[in-house]
Amino acid sequence: MTDFRLADRMSRLGTESAFEVLARAKALEATGKAIIHLEIGEPDFPTADHIVEAAIEALRGGHTHYVPAPGIPALRETVANFLGRTGRMKTTPDRVVVTPGAKPIMFFTILALCGEGDEVLYPDPGFPMYESITAMAGATPVPIPLREANSFRIDVDELAGLITDRSKLLIINSPHNPCGSALTRQDCEAIAELAQRHDLTVLTDEVYWAIRYGPHHHSVLDVDGMAERTILLDGWSKTFAMTGWRLGFGVFPAALVEPITRLAINSVSCTSAFSQYAAMAALEGPWDGVDRMVEEFRRRRDIIVAGLNDIPGITCLEPHGAFYVFPNITQTGLTSAELAARLLADGGVAALSGTAFGPCGEGYMRFSYANSVENIKAALDIIREQVS
Ligand SMILES: Cc1ncc(COP(=O)(O)O)c(C=O)c1O
Repeated sequence: MTDFRLADRMSRLGTESAFEVLARAKALEATGKAIIHLEIGEPDFPTADHIVEAAIEALRGGHTHYVPAPGIPALRETVANFLGRTGRMKTTPDRVVVTPGAKPIMFFTILALCGEGDEVLYPDPGFPMYESITAMAGATPVPIPLREANSFRIDVDELAGLITDRSKLLIINSPHNPCGSALTRQDCEAIAELAQRHDLTVLTDEVYWAIRYGPHHHSVLDVDGMAERTILLDGWSKTFAMTGWRLGFGVFPAALVEPITRLAINSVSCTSAFSQYAAMAALEGPWDGVDRMVEEFRRRRDIIVAGLNDIPGITCLEPHGAFYVFPNITQTGLTSAELAARLLADGGVAALSGTAFGPCGEGYMRFSYANSVENIKAALDIIREQVS
């Protein structure tokens, strides 16, 4: 076999454990073992019919060719209108860039802005790609610890202490993966104040925007002037149960639209044409399906939180959004990796070690409750058995 010598940057590029654990769980399933999947982060609901129909119609209508790199104009306009209508931000279509999934928005943003000598602040625990892409880009990842004692929200005083004159980009994520936490209005105001004072660019990852259990979503974009230094990252994957469609968008300050579009042209060219028609149907169509999904997630959240808190050695905060719980397992006497391995091999429950989201995740596990109540209850019984 040829011994390929990978480029140095590959040694800095991490991965997303959810996909690795999924592969291991699938391999076990192939040997006949029953597995309950609580590892992967995607809604277990079908994409709504009106969205699927719009894609079929677009396919039949011949929308099967290249389209403009930042997205088809009608969709960029629909996104801008949607953000205005839902009270999230006032923007214009020329600031919107549509990508295959929301991940390229973080990839392109970090590549465009950050290199050697730049520091990128990001939450730990947090979505693993923030650290991985930053390191690959040659910039320095600076974790912001999220602590259970602070409800897994950013402690703004602690953040202030991490900012240096090399700090370039601040990544925040609310509602939060993996902790299920959400920033308050006061948090957002204080973070915005720090960003303005230290001239930081902010990447606000709001892919779980719609999946929240309180009445309000708070964002740094609510603060005057922040749109000029903030990139909003969002998409269709979670809100509309469309993970496999690969559809995301970013809203950028004017000066960043061209470089981000150039990165798109150099990598993906554009986002699938017919998918973009489905994306329009999603934003313009009825919202009751999203409401029903969120209500069902709330029901499951209540079941899994109560169930986990009933297991000796485990305590679990109530999440404010997304579809993950992040229980404290330190009293079980096991490390997070040990419990994850044991749950999969002996119990047939696929879940993620808290450390898959950074060193501050030690002592925690992430369970996704995007699964049926029946499976959640069965998994709770297995977890109880495995820790006792
Ligand atoms: C916090 C966060 N941001 C971004 C993404 C990426 O979403 P997409 O599937 O649209 O690329 C995910 C997916 O798990 C996520 O959890």
